[in-house]
Amino acid sequence: MAGYVVVGTQWGDEGKGKIIDVLADRADYVVRFQGGNNAGHTVVVNGEKFILKLLPSGVLHGGTCIIGPGVVVDPKVLLDELASLETRGARTDHVLISDRAHVIMPYHVKLDELKEVNAGEMKIGTTKKGIGPCYADKIWRDGIRMVDLLDMDKFAKKLKYNLEAKNEIITKIYGAEPLDYDKILADYTEYANKIRHRIIDTIPVVNKALDEDKLVLFEGAQALMLDINYGTYPFVTSSSPTTGAGVSPRKIDKGIGVMKAYTTRVGEGPFVTELHGEFGEKVRQLGGEYGAVTGRPRRCGWLDLVVGKYATMINGLTDIVITKIDVLSGLGTLKICTAYEVDGEIYEFMPADTEMLYRAKPVYEELPGWDEDITQVKCYDDLPENCKKYLKRIEEIVGCPISVVSVGPDRSQNIHIREI
Ligand code: GDP
Ligand code: IMO
Ligand code: MG
Repeated sequence: MAGYVVVGTQWGDEGKGKIIDVLADRADYVVRFQGGNNAGHTVVVNGEKFILKLLPSGVLHGGTCIIGPGVVVDPKVLLDELASLETRGARTDHVLISDRAHVIMPYHVKLDELKEVNAGEMKIGTTKKGIGPCYADKIWRDGIRMVDLLDMDKFAKKLKYNLEAKNEIITKIYGAEPLDYDKILADYTEYANKIRHRIIDTIPVVNKALDEDKLVLFEGAQALMLDINYGTYPFVTSSSPTTGAGVSPRKIDKGIGVMKAYTTRVGEGPFVTELHGEFGEKVRQLGGEYGAVTGRPRRCGWLDLVVGKYATMINGLTDIVITKIDVLSGLGTLKICTAYEVDGEIYEFMPADTEMLYRAKPVYEELPGWDEDITQVKCYDDLPENCKKYLKRIEEIVGCPISVVSVGPDRSQNIHIREI
């Protein structure tokens, strides 16, 4: 059996979409296992760009693509994404959805917006796609699942119960307009009719595939530092980017961590290695660091290996894929953060106290940079010596080998060091 999990090791946008697409070439199944359309995963094929929000990033290949039980699905976004791919000539008949996945409802999106707008200093900087409220309903056992879309009488009853409660909050707490039951029911009936044939119990399918030695890629959205359990809480998303596929950890052979050669984050929250001013802006421009979902400028900073070590440990990584190292060409001396200093004490491990991170100063190791354009390099030996030193140092610090180095956004721009 071969189950490979691909996860983000920082605050998201590491290039997971690209790497999944590269690995999906030989995958029998690609399973997206958590998050929702807060994700934006970019795949570039011969210069043509695809941004995937809900569909697994292996969708441009032939393997079966599954939206797993841990995902929250906005059916309208899903239908738009499927239609947009079909218009561009891509296949979509191999996309299936878990009947256990939760459904994002219009009141989730509304509540996400209202909470953010009214939160003042407490705002998280969410994508306002309804992710938090949908997961909140799931955990509070009020959620509506894909399986409910297969029986619209059941769906209507759950909608009525939920909407009455949500409209109380929308009108009485936030003073906003209530949402209309009939419109939501009509819209969701239409969505159900269009996706019903794709809704199945995906758990036996995926487990059978693993038992039959098929290659199954599990695609995480977001990343460790946005994880509800391990991230910079409360500045995190509402799911766990390490779980949610419905298979035992015993069936996972490889943990592949995608790590950008520097760090970015979107939204609020502490960011110890953040670069402010002109240099940060330069990295943003060179890396094209603008959110794939919201278009917001991403905050940029040096590579933080306190985060890298933490991600390697929690995810049990067997392989690291470094992305966007081409962006570092010509930047001069490079810095890697190996520890934090807080109130005179050195921390080599990620502390739980998020407030403390605002006071943390990065402890940097400096490494010489390189000037060469490396976007066309295909072989490790052809990389500039200082670039190799940078990669070696990452391996040493995090204690996990680097298997692939991505040197540009296109599917073809990779250096394979070890076979994954
Ligand atoms: P994801 O959310 O982890 O899938 O990452 P995003 O797609 O949101 O952001 C990564 C961005 O970097 C996208 O625009 C990719 O096309 C681009 N990208 C991925 N790998 C590389 C790389 O090695 N070099 C460069 N220059 N761009 C890359
Ligand atoms: P991918 O999969 C980067 C961030 C938001 C916000 C916080 C909570 O493309 O890497 P949410 O809407 O999830 O409640 O927002 O999480 N966030 C992401 N940042 N990449 C993502 O996904 C993200 N998904 C959520 O910016 O700070
Ligand atoms: Mg992204």
